[in-house]
Amino acid sequence: MKIVAIANQKGGVGKTTTAVNLSTALAATRRRVLLVDCDAQGNATSSVYTMDRVCPNCYTLFTQQSTVSESAQTTSIPFLSLISYSSDLAALEVELAGHPGREECLHRVFQGYIAEQEGTTYDYVFIDCPPVLGLITLNALIAADSVLIPLQSEFFALQGLAQLLKTVQRVKQNFNARLKISGIVLTMFEPRNLLCHQVAQDVKAHFRELLFDAVIPRNVRVSEASSHGKPVLLYDTQCRGSVAYINLAKEFLRREERT
Ligand SMILES: Nc1ncnc2c1ncn2[C@@H]1O[C@H](COP(=O)(O)OP(=O)(O)OP(=O)(O)O)[C@@H](O)[C@H]1O
Ligand SMILES: [Mg+2]
Repeated sequence: MKIVAIANQKGGVGKTTTAVNLSTALAATRRRVLLVDCDAQGNATSSVYTMDRVCPNCYTLFTQQSTVSESAQTTSIPFLSLISYSSDLAALEVELAGHPGREECLHRVFQGYIAEQEGTTYDYVFIDCPPVLGLITLNALIAADSVLIPLQSEFFALQGLAQLLKTVQRVKQNFNARLKISGIVLTMFEPRNLLCHQVAQDVKAHFRELLFDAVIPRNVRVSEASSHGKPVLLYDTQCRGSVAYINLAKEFLRREERT
């Protein structure tokens, strides 16, 4: 089981869209996938699941009121399960602040889950992080084997990336030596926008080996899918956004299954 945190403290860069569509694409290849919605906005949850009752969720998981098995709900997408968001997550950062071991709540529950399973775990767990480098994201980075970074091709992207990479380095040194960078994926790329190309070139120059070849274009079908509460891969399988996410999934698997 590989745990992948999808993180970037910058808001609206495509973390949730990437978490949802990468999960859906891998589930379509019959990998067992668990999507964990750690953001109080709940956008990942509403893309794959209709909440019709209160169920164990990410908040009860963090606070150890439920286990991974109890919190995971099956979705209408075969091979894809979800640990849903909870509006209580908004207060979690503050609630955790005074607790010893507050950075490792998520790590502990997943370690517990791995210990109690007998070979029937998920192949991939994707954690959709909120847009802050706070305790929730820190928990995700400590629980994870790797971090995947969606990067919007715009002017301040590189500054934010430097800060995120510093945090990853700090987590590696202090908490989680096995944390790797799974890769950086450019999102909302606009081929006719010169600035997009410039940012892409800069990222390539500095982080060539980390950058995925697959680039996610800005595509109106992607945002329409979100408003219909669906992964774009189910909303319009043929559109450029879907094709790009399928390519990203293939490349992700090639990288993961090589290591
Ligand atoms: N490739 C794309 N083309 C067009 N729109 C996109 C694309 N990717 C994401 N969007 C839209 O941009 C908005 C932000 O995307 P998303 O929610 O995935 O970002 P996020 O990083 O998770 O945001 P937050 O930081 O708020 O959690 C959404 O409305 C989404 O539908
Ligand atoms: Mg999000």
